[in-house]
Amino acid sequence: MSDQFITINGLELPFKAGQTILDVARENNIPIPTLCHLKDATPTGSCRVCVVEVKGARSLLASCTTPAVKGMDVKTESAQVIQARKTVIELLLSSGNHNCAISGSNKGSWENLQLRANAGDGSQELCPVWGDCRLQELAYQYQVNAGRYEHTEIPYPLELKNPLIVRDFSRCIRCGRCVQACNEVQVNQAISYGYRGYDSKIVTGGDRPLIESDCVFCGECVQACPVGALVEKKARYVWRPWKSQKVRTTCPYCGVGCQQWLHVQDGKIVKVTGVEEGAPNKGRLCIKGRFGYDFIYSEDRLKTPLIREKNGEFREASWDEALDLVADKFKQIIDESGPDALAGVSCARSINEDSYFMQKLFRAVFKTNNIDHCART
Ligand code: FES
Repeated sequence: MSDQFITINGLELPFKAGQTILDVARENNIPIPTLCHLKDATPTGSCRVCVVEVKGARSLLASCTTPAVKGMDVKTESAQVIQARKTVIELLLSSGNHNCAISGSNKGSWENLQLRANAGDGSQELCPVWGDCRLQELAYQYQVNAGRYEHTEIPYPLELKNPLIVRDFSRCIRCGRCVQACNEVQVNQAISYGYRGYDSKIVTGGDRPLIESDCVFCGECVQACPVGALVEKKARYVWRPWKSQKVRTTCPYCGVGCQQWLHVQDGKIVKVTGVEEGAPNKGRLCIKGRFGYDFIYSEDRLKTPLIREKNGEFREASWDEALDLVADKFKQIIDESGPDALAGVSCARSINEDSYFMQKLFRAVFKTNNIDHCART
């Protein structure tokens, strides 16, 4: 038990060495809003939404980067704190295309937005993550819009060239979570910050599209993006958060057992994300786990066993017939040539339990050690 305490909103709370004010607040269910903070990555303190008032400090401090120090007296919701957060949110809303909060801004009315969105000119005005945007959530929570500041247009065009991810620089708030997800979480080192000032942008080496870069399309950056700057191509304008249900499952691709959320809408999977609080992947997924769910709906899927006839043609069979045939063939081979004439290769897509049963079948029932596991996925 720690003997060091800080006070947050009048509550005396213990902390451990190395914890930030945000860590202590979260551990004690005291809400502090964040935008750039990414769990398990080095805090950058770039957005300033998480500022708090610390007695004796000359200015407000970012709670995500400020270490807890014995005797600190912190206020997370003072008038000064609220005003600072509002200003940060207003500035972010005034830079780029955040049209969910356009009402009351200098840029135009909802009516104009709808007209532009319906123009069919490919301008894609409506935000694809409406209802699942951290900035939108904060704008509503703190009741701010982009009205006070001059609007800044982002000059970079939409990047639609990539097979799985759409990059919309006009919605990017340069929080850097995608950079950390790529470099610190997945350690792919494919993206970073580029240019300076108003021209600042998240770039790949040589500022090329993702498809021409070192990107492996794990989609960790998409999951980390708190706004609509990075979205799954397949889910864009299809997935609507308030219409979908989340179903937890285990990834079917390899034996690691990564935990996934299937986002199911009208009975179909429309996107997949990692379960942040779940071992072993802690929210991370690979390209197959995140994007490879189309096979479920493929017309080419085998739905019944097929038995090859003597003439080489396949015919449909029942499971009983197919399994009886396989069992008879196994028996025949063992009777004629002994158990070591058999060998089994367990599928890498199987769960550990299935692979365990497969080796039991070969070792305990067939009496051979000719059993292996396919390493390729
Ligand atoms: Fe702390 Fe962004 S969350 S500065």
